[in-house]
Order: sequence, then C-alpha cells, then structure tokens
Amino acid sequence: MEVIIKESYDQISLLAAQIIADLVHHRPRASLGLATGSTPLGAYRELIRMHREEGLDFSQIVTFNLDEYVGLAEDNDQSYHYFMWENLFKHINIIPANVHIPDGNAKDLEEACEHYEMEIDDHGGVDVQLLGIGSNGHIAFNEPGSSLGSRTRIKTLTQQTRRDNARFFASIDEVPKYCVTMGIGTILEARKLLLLANGASKAEAVAAALEGPITASVPASAVQLHPDVTFIIDKAAAAKLKREYHSELSRVDR
Ligand code: PGA
Repeated sequence: MEVIIKESYDQISLLAAQIIADLVHHRPRASLGLATGSTPLGAYRELIRMHREEGLDFSQIVTFNLDEYVGLAEDNDQSYHYFMWENLFKHINIIPANVHIPDGNAKDLEEACEHYEMEIDDHGGVDVQLLGIGSNGHIAFNEPGSSLGSRTRIKTLTQQTRRDNARFFASIDEVPKYCVTMGIGTILEARKLLLLANGASKAEAVAAALEGPITASVPASAVQLHPDVTFIIDKAAAAKLKREYHSELSRVDR
C-alpha cells in the first residue's frame, strides 16, 4: 500500500486530480469510479480547472459512482445525482450517457443493483476508484458489519452516518434511512483505489483501515487486500498512524 501524507487539503486534492488526469490522458476511454461527500470536492475543482484551462478531455470517459440515497429525487439538492452534476459533470465535457450513478428511485431496487454491476462489467470494470472514508470506517455506504465480499445492494444507514450527513439536510429526520451502494467486493475489483481523507475526525478510521486488522467492523480495512491502493491524507488524518510514511508518490512500497 502506498500512503502519502500531505500538509493540506489542497495538496491532497491536487495530487488526486493529477493521478486521475494522468489516467484520462493515457486512457481516454477509462472508467472512473467517483465518490461524493466533502472530501473529493477539491479534486473535482482541480479537474474542472484542468478541463477549462488545459483541455483535459472527458468526452470518452465513463464514470461509475459509489452510492446514492434511496427515495430522494435526482433533482433534490441532497441527492448524489445532483451533487455530481453540480460539482463536476456539468462543468466538463462528459457525455451524459456515460455517467452511471446507482438509481435510488428504481421500482425494483434489487434488480437495479444487479443491473449496475452488469454495467460495470460491460465497461470492463473500473480503472481507478476514488474513495472517502467515514468517521466510522465505512467506504461508500458500506457501514461496519458489511460483508467484505458484498456487491451493489440496498443498505440501512447507521445513526452515526445519518448524524454525520445531517449537516447537509434541514434536520436529521430528513436524512434518508436507506441507500444503494457498491459493495466492498465491487470496490475491490477496481484496478486502482485512491482513498482520500483529511481532518482529525478521520484519524481513527484511517489508522484502523491502514494498520488495524482486516475486519468487517472497519469496512475500509478491506482495501488492505487490494494490490494497488494509494491513501492520500493530510497530517491531521494521519495523526494516529504508527508506521512511517512518505509525502511523495513512490512506486516501491506498494
Ligand atoms: P466526507 O464523507 O467526504 O463528507 O467526509 C466521506 C464518507 O463518508 O465516505
């Protein structure tokens, strides 16, 4: 595993965007696995800048998002559909048909989950999957206790995640109780994982994910099974790590 500790959130964002931009350059038809939440916003801003100022071309790029709430209309400003269009897609030259986000409003949610997995397969899998991490160690909406082999499915959100996300809603009562999320097994099949974390509230989860045992109690610890995972984190999120890590990309310590 590669762990890069940066001074600031901006530096995390720039490096993450650079890694994604390199892939987009080298593989114009790449499949990007994307995440919502506050963490990836800086990377998205930088990708938008690269598109505008440097002509970074997304015209053949395909995207797959990790998760979506159940029961929020796509144009609800808290839906992950809305988030992705507002914060990335509408600012770049992606083809709408190439955007994939789990459908939290499907009549048959289970069928929609299976279909999502098939779409990922049909596109040859995800090349690089961007991940945040929850303060409870979740990845996507795979909460503690999620099977490490899980696939895209409907999940119940924990109270902690609902509380964490309540800041985006008028009140916690408005935070949906269910979601559709890629499974941990789905995420582990991406060819590369890029996990971003910043701030002291993530320090415990980052330490458990990186240096703790692999356990369903810390879903992010499953990334230890992946052959190509890079953590890009700031000093506050790294504060509880015990091993020694680097501040630059290196290709020798994966
Ligand atoms: P955040 O969420 O980026 O808003 O901190 C990350 C997550 O819950 O996975």
